[in-house]
Amino acid sequence: MKAANAPAPRPPRKPRDTRPPAPPLPEFEKLDQAHRAALEMLQAFDRLIEHLDDRGLDDTARASAKEILAFFNGPGRDHHAQEEAQVFPVLLASGDAELVQHVHRLQQDHGWLDEDWHELAPQIEGIAAGYNWYDLAMLRNALPIYTALHHDHIALEETVVYPAARAARAAIEAGQKARTA
Ligand SMILES: [Fe+2]
Ligand SMILES: [Fe+2]
Repeated sequence: MKAANAPAPRPPRKPRDTRPPAPPLPEFEKLDQAHRAALEMLQAFDRLIEHLDDRGLDDTARASAKEILAFFNGPGRDHHAQEEAQVFPVLLASGDAELVQHVHRLQQDHGWLDEDWHELAPQIEGIAAGYNWYDLAMLRNALPIYTALHHDHIALEETVVYPAARAARAAIEAGQKARTA
């Protein structure tokens, strides 16, 4: 006999529209490599300041300035853009208040790193072009702040945010598999 409160049978569910798979996360190894490259470039920047102090502006200093300029105007900037586009959204959508707060902090860092670089870049451009109007005292003051912000930023990404992004992506993929199985 049928139970009195048994729910009415559900009508067959309409199949859901198929969607393209969620965009893949970037390879984390490559993101980690970009961090190593940034830290190496900051060391080169520090050596450049010492070199300018010891020997003044010469070909070695110009070559180093060109390399620093190319990195922070190129792969360094692209790395931030890639994180903003491919790593942060999955965490901002996670509903985890602590993670969202971390991502907001990282986004603010990207803005601050950009601001710092805008102050530093004209000096490095001048050195790369062989002009000796650079302000060594300004560079000496600004570089440690720029470097420390990179270190804090990278540490938060590598210890908390990248692992969380990996886990969030794995959970989404597992859900997609379960629905299509
Ligand atoms: Fe970042
Ligand atoms: Fe990063």
